[in-house]
Amino acid sequence: MGAYNLRICALVACLLLASQASGYTMEQMCAQWSGTGYVGNPSNCRAWGYCQGQKLVGWGTCPNDYIFNSQKGACGYASSTVCATSAVQTCASATSPMYVADPMNCTQYGYCDGKGSVQYGNCGVGGVYSASSGKCVWGPSCPQDNICQFMLSGIYVGDPNNCGSYVACNNGVATSGTCSTGLTYNLANGYCQETNNCNGDNSNSGSSGEFTVGQQNKNICKTLWGDAVDVKVENVVQTYKYVSDQSTCYGYYFCAEPTAIGYWNQCPAGTQFNIKAGQCVSPASFICPYNRCGNVNSEFMAVKNTGCESYIVCSDSAIQNCPTDMYYDEVNNICTGTQPDYPICKGTYTSTD
Ligand SMILES: *[C@@H]1O[C@H](CO)[C@@H](O)[C@H](O)[C@H]1NC(C)=O
Repeated sequence: MGAYNLRICALVACLLLASQASGYTMEQMCAQWSGTGYVGNPSNCRAWGYCQGQKLVGWGTCPNDYIFNSQKGACGYASSTVCATSAVQTCASATSPMYVADPMNCTQYGYCDGKGSVQYGNCGVGGVYSASSGKCVWGPSCPQDNICQFMLSGIYVGDPNNCGSYVACNNGVATSGTCSTGLTYNLANGYCQETNNCNGDNSNSGSSGEFTVGQQNKNICKTLWGDAVDVKVENVVQTYKYVSDQSTCYGYYFCAEPTAIGYWNQCPAGTQFNIKAGQCVSPASFICPYNRCGNVNSEFMAVKNTGCESYIVCSDSAIQNCPTDMYYDEVNNICTGTQPDYPICKGTYTSTD
């Protein structure tokens, strides 16, 4: 009897886990894709990211009244585009009755009445709602919870759970595939090839900047504790510190003590982590040596050590210059005749910083 209860609990836990929104960050989606183009933002159905060279290089949001259609890679009218992150939002704009997945709870589905309201239905014990087929299917895993949910239709990407294999994405559905005997899938070029780039490491493609919140690092606290500034709360020095993740502008590790395991976390949207301040701050207020487009909703960002004469186009990493004697003011998103006073424009970064 005890064992029986335990199994039920385990199944419930599975259902709860499966009911969370897609577990892949935009960084992780880009890391699995050799192509260049848009991915949907799994935390906001109006927002998108842009992948290039297996990295997330751009961010943006559709205009008001538009929803980002991840499968088409374009903004679509809210009245005819499903908001994959909110059934309530989809139904608020739907002008005719329809069924939608509930991104918060896969064991139920939403019914839009076409007049702005949503009602919920239940898939029953062991059932989950499949958005692609529009009906309840047998669980426990949620059909929407796959890497293709926020990716273009008609592309092939690496299987995040099985390096060397791929998945085909079609309308948010992932179909697994393996290369023919002797060949392995190469994430970097999207081909099945004889050289195996996986090296037995199934965890990721090895691209830097790929972190998930809570990700652990055993040695980072020991290594970087000495360089990290004291964290003060109301002028009282705390026993913990935040250290750099050494690859992104917006991530840091929380260290409870010098010998603790570091836990990765990211700054609130629009801010980046200043190692010297031990805080998340405005990106313009310090000089981050990594990809400055990270975690900001900006089309362009100033390029360090150019006095802000140059800026980077976040969507494709191209470097552009403001007209002669003008400077890029990233806070106001214009080229201006006066050099802005921010550290990113006035300061110089050296590797000893
Ligand atoms: C998910 O939905 C089912 C069916 O409506 C409900 O019984 C369950 O409590 C919900 N779970 C959560 C975590 O809200």
